Amino acid sequence: MKDFAGKIVFVTGGASGAGLGQAKVFGKAGMKVAIADVRQDALDKAVDEIVAYGIKRSDVLALKVDLTNRAEYTAAADKVEAVFGGPPHLLIQTAGVNSFGPIEASTFDDFDWVMGVCLNHVVNGLLIFVPRMIKAYAHKTEFHVATTSSMGAFMAGSTTGPYSAAKAAVNNLMYSYADALKPYGSGATVLCPGNINSNIGNAEKFRPANLKNTGYYVSEGTMKTLGAIHATGIDPIELAEILKEGIENGRVIVLPDHNTGEQRAAQLRGQDEQIEDLCLTATEREAKSAARMAEMMKRFAPPPTNGDEKAAPPPPPMWGVPEGGEAFGQARTDLDWVDPSKKKK
Ligand code: NAI
Repeated sequence: MKDFAGKIVFVTGGASGAGLGQAKVFGKAGMKVAIADVRQDALDKAVDEIVAYGIKRSDVLALKVDLTNRAEYTAAADKVEAVFGGPPHLLIQTAGVNSFGPIEASTFDDFDWVMGVCLNHVVNGLLIFVPRMIKAYAHKTEFHVATTSSMGAFMAGSTTGPYSAAKAAVNNLMYSYADALKPYGSGATVLCPGNINSNIGNAEKFRPANLKNTGYYVSEGTMKTLGAIHATGIDPIELAEILKEGIENGRVIVLPDHNTGEQRAAQLRGQDEQIEDLCLTATEREAKSAARMAEMMKRFAPPPTNGDEKAAPPPPPMWGVPEGGEAFGQARTDLDWVDPSKKKK
């Protein structure tokens, strides 16, 4: 899709972070912008920001909707058609939440919340909008579907289970749509960022009341630590420009620029290696992991000294816990089957 001016974009999670950046960038490209989000206060602020970014207020439509609710999502789709005169030409599904903890500590609420937003809302949007988009636009004008996934789609971690599973599924789904939409003259793109400067570290504050029973240790302190990490992430406007380039050039996977070139190749190699490792026998895998660890120790060991040199400088700090923050990714203290080392001390 190359021409955006005068067309309609529908951005989920458009009240904050990556989605808000997308609303601004595609609005600036001349599109009428519908943003859908579950938080009214954030929507109100976002509309002001989008207008301040140079988009006409009459070209912005804010919709308060829980996107995991199919009836609400369908009503929002109807509203866009009624107000802007047709379904979106560009659907960007970006709403997402995150929660970290040992996967064996996870509750049904943890899975239902994270997969509900990160995966099910994407399915909802595709099923609600794609038939309407095909009917309205196939072979008449350009249209496209995009989703914000994550680098987490390519890797699994012991404390990111529901999120990584949802994102892996979203990627796979988008590869299917990329193929399926070709005959209609359309395409699909999945954006896979690493770290975004957004508000996702606060997501737990807005967890719905009916899904509050988490198995993870969550506190103001864990959210503060996450906030500090995300503050170092890519700027949402820059990320949206990268997505736009990807859509314009028909990329199915878009990895942000800090993941391009050598780094991107290394990441994809890492993914291949992980799959290779998982195919090995347990004994082979142990041996490979020990060899890898030994290699790493060699690389990071201080150079040999004869005692005269000044002490080697300390290694650069990893993402640390800021003042007032707490480590995240731990289990609730009362779970009696979880390894004590994985619980908050
Ligand atoms: P954010 O928290 O700033 O924005 C997400 C928005 O989704 C929020 O405004 C929230 O209210 C909305 N939302 C949550 N549940 C909803 C629901 N049921 N219905 C409607 N709206 C809902 O977070 P961010 O980081 O901008 O997240 C955007 C996407 O980027 C997510 O899919 C996330 O998984 C992905 N991502 C984020 C990364 C990061 O480092 N922040 C890294 C990689 C991917």
